[in-house]
Amino acid sequence: MDIKALISTAQAMVADGKGILAIDESGGTIKKRFDTIGVESTAETRRDYREMLLTTPGIGEHISGAILFDETLRQSTAEGKSLVAVMESAGVIPGIKVDTGAHPLAGHPGELVTEGLDGLRERLKEYAELGARFAKWRAVISISESTPSDACINANCHALARYAALCQEAGIVPMVEPEVLINGDHSLEDCYEVTELALRRLFEQMYDQNVMLEGAILKASMVISGDEATDRASVAEVAEATVDCLLQSVPGSLAGVVFLSGGQGDEEATAHLDAMNKLGIFPWPLSFSYGRALQHPTLIEWGADIVANVGSGQAKLAHRARMNGLATLGQYESSMEPG
Ligand code: 13P
Repeated sequence: MDIKALISTAQAMVADGKGILAIDESGGTIKKRFDTIGVESTAETRRDYREMLLTTPGIGEHISGAILFDETLRQSTAEGKSLVAVMESAGVIPGIKVDTGAHPLAGHPGELVTEGLDGLRERLKEYAELGARFAKWRAVISISESTPSDACINANCHALARYAALCQEAGIVPMVEPEVLINGDHSLEDCYEVTELALRRLFEQMYDQNVMLEGAILKASMVISGDEATDRASVAEVAEATVDCLLQSVPGSLAGVVFLSGGQGDEEATAHLDAMNKLGIFPWPLSFSYGRALQHPTLIEWGADIVANVGSGQAKLAHRARMNGLATLGQYESSMEPG
């Protein structure tokens, strides 16, 4: 393990003014996204869409890295250049989703455990050879009257820590993602409690598995009211609760924290990140690793004409990347949005 290389990759992922573009949708998820714009999901349309995103002019200015799905890591542009080479020349670090999805947790109806540890050492070796320098593993934790159970949190945090240790052994920076889902009518306080518990368990497990925190990134969900809650917390409340929760549970030696958007609106996700960074200085950079909140306007634009709207689609991505880049510095204003 080259410790210095791991640390410098992790730091580059959360460099000032930059964050991560998540485009690692599995086959089923990208089909759902394409269904919303009436585009058939084929290897070619998926390549065209992701090629458009990754060839956005100036993408490396605010995007430090992008998380790919296995298929994309192996694909080339229509002109035959590997997408990994495209990213490298744009200054965008290639990342790869390595979990194999969330499956029902036996004995715990309604709860999921993320799988993918079997054979992971060999897969990581191949991914490193293909150019991946960081990886992502997502666990999901739901809030309801009866969940989450301790068993669900423990099983998922154990798997996340074992995955993280294997990544570092392969020279790959682990991005550990325990997503507390936004779905439901729970309060900000409920979300805080579950998030704090999950993060404390996660870092206990990471210590047990000898994960080097200076070479690891946390992908966190924000502390936010459920999407069906009647009286949802304000931007300022979300920002304060999220930062406070992280300070109670995340070791200061961690290289950085990036957030998922998890169903928030594009501008809402930017405003939340900005409000956190306006609060002050923390032990770790706070940045973004958004999927939907970065891609949504581009997806709509491209979907209207997948041949003619490549440039205008890229302009939408460049705008959202710039807004989120400013939010990592606490320099975003909603008046910067087009209208
Ligand atoms: P969203 O920002 O759309 O939640 O996606 C981020 C991600 O990678 C979830 O694993």
